[in-house]
Amino acid sequence: MEKLKVTDLTKKYEGKAVLNKISFSVNEGEFLSVLGPSGCGKTTLLRILIGLEKQTSGQILLDGKNIEDLPPSKRGMGIIFQNYALFPNMSVLENVEYALRLRRETKAGSRETAVRTLAQIGMAEHLNKKPAQLSGGQQQRVAIARTLALNPSIVLLDEPISALDVENKEIMKRELKEIQKKFNSTMIYITHDQEEAFYLSDRVIVMSEGQIEQVDAPKEIYSHPKNEYIKKFVVAHLDQKLDSLMKSTGRK
Ligand SMILES: Nc1ncnc2c1ncn2[C@@H]1O[C@H](COP(=O)(O)OP(=O)(O)OP(=O)(O)O)[C@@H](O)[C@H]1O
Ligand SMILES: [Mg+2]
Repeated sequence: MEKLKVTDLTKKYEGKAVLNKISFSVNEGEFLSVLGPSGCGKTTLLRILIGLEKQTSGQILLDGKNIEDLPPSKRGMGIIFQNYALFPNMSVLENVEYALRLRRETKAGSRETAVRTLAQIGMAEHLNKKPAQLSGGQQQRVAIARTLALNPSIVLLDEPISALDVENKEIMKRELKEIQKKFNSTMIYITHDQEEAFYLSDRVIVMSEGQIEQVDAPKEIYSHPKNEYIKKFVVAHLDQKLDSLMKSTGRK
């Protein structure tokens, strides 16, 4: 079922189009990545979807309804950034509870939901720690729990693992996939990393400056790249990675 439908979305800053007639849709429960180089408009797209920025033209339908005039708080979307933005003076549990309390949930209800969500995400042993006592990966997990506890209609993630070290990045990459399955959430994942997008996604939107070059399943993009841009930015890049992997394992 179609969860989100974006049609001819355009955003101009001082007359210059940063997004140029972008159209795509996201299905319920889908993991969709938006892959593109720095400055191509990924964060701008996300900020418009969540309502922090207004489009110049074009339409966004959430569950079939136009959300143009809805403020961020009424869109029911959750967002996860690169920097976890946890409150340093609150414990893990309090960080998640606080988000629920802001939504006027009862104290007992908030506690129960917070404990359950943190347990589902593998943080049951760390409830009383402060963010500074956690690794980067664990902090990001708390931020994810805080978002998922609110049961969002869509989860938007803007380069959520790019600040982690290599080892934690690999762990979180695997866990993100499991988390998405467990919560059956619809996720839009922004990244400039080809491997990340290909590993995680049901479908990938490949962007160049302000426009979409291809939207397809990873396999399809790799085997049927639509144009020279995709061949260079995606296929050649992945081939090169594979090549150096083979060399390093002595298979070539
Ligand atoms: N408020 C603004 N006013 C003017 N130009 C802006 C504004 N916000 C973004 N831009 C421009 O829009 C373009 C796209 O920016 P955006 O942040 O969406 O890129 P991005 O794909 O997220 O890049 P990165 O991978 O580096 O995060 C850039 O050229 C940027 O300078
Ligand atoms: Mg960005």
